[in-house]
Amino acid sequence: MAEKRKFQAIKGTRDLLPPETELWNRVEQTAREVFGGFGFGEIRLPIFEPTELFARAVGGETDIVSKEMYRFIDRSEKLERNPKIRNLGRFIEKVKHLLKSGEIPEVDATEVYLEHAEESWKKVETALLETAGPEHLLDDIDELLAYIGAMQLGPDLALRPEVTASVCRAYIEHGMHALAQPVKLYYMGPMFRRERPQKGRYRQFYQIGAEVLETVRKEVASGEWLVASAKDAATDAEVIEMVMAYFARLGLEGVQLDINSIGHSAPACRRGYVEKLKAALEKVKDKLGADSQRRIETNPLRVLDSKLESEQAIIEKLPRIGDHLCADCAKHHAEVKRQLELRGVAYQENWRLVRGLDYYMRTTFEITARGLGSQNAVCGGGRYDGLVELLGGPPTKGIGFAIGEDRVILSLQEAGKGGAAQGRDVYIAWMGEKTLATAIRAARDLRQAGFRVELPPVEQKFGKALGQADKLGARYALILGEDEVASGQWTVKTLADGTQGKYSEAGLLEFLRKQKS
Ligand code: HAM
Repeated sequence: MAEKRKFQAIKGTRDLLPPETELWNRVEQTAREVFGGFGFGEIRLPIFEPTELFARAVGGETDIVSKEMYRFIDRSEKLERNPKIRNLGRFIEKVKHLLKSGEIPEVDATEVYLEHAEESWKKVETALLETAGPEHLLDDIDELLAYIGAMQLGPDLALRPEVTASVCRAYIEHGMHALAQPVKLYYMGPMFRRERPQKGRYRQFYQIGAEVLETVRKEVASGEWLVASAKDAATDAEVIEMVMAYFARLGLEGVQLDINSIGHSAPACRRGYVEKLKAALEKVKDKLGADSQRRIETNPLRVLDSKLESEQAIIEKLPRIGDHLCADCAKHHAEVKRQLELRGVAYQENWRLVRGLDYYMRTTFEITARGLGSQNAVCGGGRYDGLVELLGGPPTKGIGFAIGEDRVILSLQEAGKGGAAQGRDVYIAWMGEKTLATAIRAARDLRQAGFRVELPPVEQKFGKALGQADKLGARYALILGEDEVASGQWTVKTLADGTQGKYSEAGLLEFLRKQKS
């Protein structure tokens, strides 16, 4: 018999169970309603995509891509898993064929290993045919297997760490630039990042997000299409208004919106600022921690993100991006703020808000909420004009955000707003075999009328039935004995206060409906 083994959810992943899943459903349903009200439609995307998509969009040097992605090499199903030695020649031929047809990606290393493998195979084949000494043959086979093992025999894929990249990929793939612009999409689902798990931080976590994409008309595109327009600022503000309206509807507490502009990549804007920042950081390098020291070279903007206590006073004295924006980006930022004020959205400016993904430009924002400790960001987003183009599409503007659903749930629970709905509306305590048919009919009718009903599969003693109803959190017990069935007058007990009443079948429905409304 197989040895007993206990399986557990993998570190950083978790099971979501009822009744908590009711809260998850409520949070998701509210998003559908609020986002729908702003004209957004749902997009459902694959959980895995080519690694290269995220590397290009999010940035190869970012933590998300360089350290945290779950990557794997898929393998063509046309290739045998463990080819026998006598079939290796055919296996190599098949790899060559799949490379030619594009089913195996053309990776340099694979082509080199393939060449070596072919040579090794020739030696092995000759030795096999000539039946040379086994010692020498074994070495050749080992070499051959090593080459085969080193080949990338399928596409390099990754579990999605975020989906803005996927939304842009889908926008291009489905020619959405031809639809009425802008295209407004929302999504929800699991994301994967290999981070150190802690409260509010998981390796499989859930995001609810939205994106607005707008392809720029050709005649504008041929010119300076990245120039900000007043329309862009209004879109930024409306997207932020929408997420704030959503949080208000959920009753999330201690919500704070931080906004910033990180300009655009021109020398007269962000690039010039980053040079100045780098020079200033070089001067204080000795006082910075190892992470920040490294970032001076790799990504100086990220130093501003540091939470290290010892670095705070130094960072406060660094040059600020707001003082180095080009006129166009400065105008855009001012207009976003005016538009937010028009919409009654309270915000705080935070010049250190740079975000950890490479695709942003101009507006960036983050929202925090109460009850979350150090992982208190419940939403992050910003503008990403040019990302669709970077992924092979037409010149397109974009703005969006993603909400950390796990954190929203935690914050609601901490505030005592995570209360699950009643377990059941009605528990049917039926007694006597003759009442079963009536009990089944009552359960069916009540369920059709939208009530949650528990019908015990076997007859129970009265006391036990009421005890069970209580445990399940039922609000009412419908007591069906032979007398009730005969008289058509059913007894209903309100479990919270023990009061009882008698109702006809129709009267019962009416009573329950009134209690619910
Ligand atoms: P992000 O800031 O990487 O942005 O993630 C957005 C939110 O997802 C965070 O504010 C946080 O609430 C949640 N989150 C991130 N990592 C974890 C984790 N390990 N565990 C739990 N929650 C987490 C993005 O992903 C961008 N795609 C947002 C965006 C959309 N920008 C434009 N459009």
